[in-house]
Amino acid sequence: MTDARNRSSGERRLALITGASSGIGAAFARLAAAKGFDVALVARREERLEQLARELAAKYDITARFRSTDLCDPEAPNAVCNWLKSASRGVDILINNAGYSIPQPFAATPLERQLNYIELSVTGPVALSRHVLPDMIARGFGRIINISSITAFSSGGKGHTLYPASKSFIVKFSQSLNAEVAAKGVFVTAVCPGFVDTEFQQANNMADKMTSTPKFLKQTAEEVAKEAWERNDRGVEVVVPGLLPKIAAATLKLVPEQIVTPITRSAAEKYYVGD
Ligand SMILES: NC(=O)c1ccc[n+]([C@@H]2O[C@H](COP(=O)([O-])OP(=O)(O)OC[C@H]3O[C@@H](n4cnc5c(N)ncnc54)[C@H](OP(=O)(O)O)[C@@H]3O)[C@@H](O)[C@H]2O)c1
Repeated sequence: MTDARNRSSGERRLALITGASSGIGAAFARLAAAKGFDVALVARREERLEQLARELAAKYDITARFRSTDLCDPEAPNAVCNWLKSASRGVDILINNAGYSIPQPFAATPLERQLNYIELSVTGPVALSRHVLPDMIARGFGRIINISSITAFSSGGKGHTLYPASKSFIVKFSQSLNAEVAAKGVFVTAVCPGFVDTEFQQANNMADKMTSTPKFLKQTAEEVAKEAWERNDRGVEVVVPGLLPKIAAATLKLVPEQIVTPITRSAAEKYYVGD
């Protein structure tokens, strides 16, 4: 298990978590702090971040920084890294978690909104990883956890057009990067959760559609964060947290696409907002 302190300097290691103001990101922040890591929390809702940072600093006697940032802004990854550099802090663990979805029809959604989505979900994680990697390699230690989704293995469907595409990108990006840097002590993992009980559904106009999803299909954010953290620390490249999502992911991979496509299309239809 990774030591929360750097063995040579004695300094506490730092976990940078995007999308830390709720759900899976907040669960990662709590987990990291409970393990004795300093945390840097990024999202847009400043009050949420401030409240969580205060709670974690008081409870675990760690340093908890926060920064309100819109990660749809192409300058944001650079600004976040400069913010930490100005505090002389390198990033030991990067958790690219911030995310949302656009459930409406692609053709009816302004291009700017789509490009903002790509900035947050694809370009942002790539940029943050590129910023922190050289120091991780130089130190011979680093962890990068990229939050994808089980939809990365699906054939897509109506609405949420960019979601499976961006999440597939995250899986392939993580695998390639891990192949490059694992031997240098930097482990990169794509995490592909199924249904997780967070604010994701409210944030993406799907709350009413999720109420009919059976409880046994939903995981908690804490379960996802715990399994992701532990398996990333063991160098696992792709993690599907939970038993049922593991079975679903294996099915999506093993069953021929012509059988799986109608099933995933009809499931996606349920979460489509539009027309
Ligand atoms: N919930 C699920 O069923 C599920 C399943 C598979 C994968 N995932 C993935 O898990 C990740 C976390 O989602 P969640 O379920 O924890 O949902 P959530 O509770 O809605 O959290 C999303 C986080 O992303 C942040 N965020 C959204 N847009 C942002 C922006 N423009 N700039 C900065 N931060 C932004 C939000 O903070 P602010 O609003 O304060 O900015 C929030 O902290 C996402 O990548 C999602 O795709 C979720």
